[in-house]
Amino acid sequence: MITSPQPGSPFDYLIGPGGRLTGRVRVPGDKSISHRCVMLGALANGQTKVSGLLEGEDVLSTLAAFRAMGVEAEGPYHGALQIRGVGLRGLRAPAGPLDMGNSGTAMRLMAGILSGQAFDSVLVGDESLSKRPMGRVAEPLSAMGALIETAPGGRPPLRVHGGQRLRGIDYRLPVPSAQVKSALLLAGLYAEGQTQVSEPAPTRDHTERMLRGFGYPVESREGAIRLRGGGTLTGCAIDVPADISSAAFFLVGAAMTPGSDLVLEHVGVNPTRIGVLNILRAMGAQIAMTGERMIGGEPVADLHVAGGRLHGIAIPHDQVPLAIDEFPALFIAAACAEGRTSLAGAAELRVKESDRIGVMAEGLSRLGVVVQETADGLVIEGGSGKRPLAGGEIDSHGDHRVAMAFSVAALQAQGPIRVRDCRNVATSFPGFTALAGGAGLAIRAVAPD
Ligand code: S3P
Repeated sequence: MITSPQPGSPFDYLIGPGGRLTGRVRVPGDKSISHRCVMLGALANGQTKVSGLLEGEDVLSTLAAFRAMGVEAEGPYHGALQIRGVGLRGLRAPAGPLDMGNSGTAMRLMAGILSGQAFDSVLVGDESLSKRPMGRVAEPLSAMGALIETAPGGRPPLRVHGGQRLRGIDYRLPVPSAQVKSALLLAGLYAEGQTQVSEPAPTRDHTERMLRGFGYPVESREGAIRLRGGGTLTGCAIDVPADISSAAFFLVGAAMTPGSDLVLEHVGVNPTRIGVLNILRAMGAQIAMTGERMIGGEPVADLHVAGGRLHGIAIPHDQVPLAIDEFPALFIAAACAEGRTSLAGAAELRVKESDRIGVMAEGLSRLGVVVQETADGLVIEGGSGKRPLAGGEIDSHGDHRVAMAFSVAALQAQGPIRVRDCRNVATSFPGFTALAGGAGLAIRAVAPD
């Protein structure tokens, strides 16, 4: 029997099949930018006024951590948050461990900030986050003079011992990672001398942009980002654009479904984030960008998608870091495209909220798609004809983006899709069901059977 879920208890999604996406949608605020607003706002001198903040659980974990360290903030109410910054040296020791929930961004960036404090702190996370690698930040932060203990294998919890003297280092990232880059730059605010981070490929640059917005000098040249410790941040006003990573589910759903005609409003189109647009366009998607404008140092635009038929491609390597969070959605587009799509050079996907190569391969196979998993990617044989996917049951493995990707897959399925364990969608996309339903996806939350 199908019943509605009890508030606060686990739920599945039951979707479709069929339909098309139409109308105008504004997805919630950008997660990466929202985390950084809270962090820099808390560490600034004076007030920071944020609008469009993502009220997802990940960002709320970051906000709760700063409140536990004595920062006062009003909100968020409908995306509005006012933070009374305490200055770089104004945080107080928290009474207990800081819980980062499901959020790798929160844990890694906080590790950088906490390394520079006078007090000890402990960072913990949920079951998924507790399995994710933290050595990638603990090691370079230690090279700066931080004292961080991890659980075996470089996993959380992280015990950060305060009162250390940090010094700037010159660090080349072994893998492109905005989280590691940002952790080091944030620790660099507390370090003596210059901190320089070089990237093997461009990654999202929201930290650099926002530091500048708070009046902190940051130099970016030829893949190297530099700042000097000892400055101050000045509170400011920030309008957070809609998250292109959340828009991605609608972009894919509309682009692969003939008859769809959808506008995504006020989407952040920072060049370090638009891999999903580049890849979908290379697959034949009709996406027009209009009304490009700069909002608080970040480019924003409306995206108009017209549904049609996609074709498979070999995904260019340089697009991988620029679309790193969008592969669950892009794999669905590939499964519904004519011909083969191949991805390589994306081993990072195995250490996201779930192993997104393994989990997506498992789910696609359940829908009858021929997939071949490799160590660092996936080869997907696309289906042709009307609605190439079978219906079926999918386990999201508690990964928000896997849950939403398989939800839009139902647009191209012959039978209904049930996605299990969708609670974590609230980490990045509160209100997904209502927004997707309004645009034409036949989706509802149901109690697990
Ligand atoms: C993020 C960076 C990316 C991304 C994550 C958010 C950020 O991680 O996958 O969802 O806000 O800096 P990596 O930098 O580890 O690739």
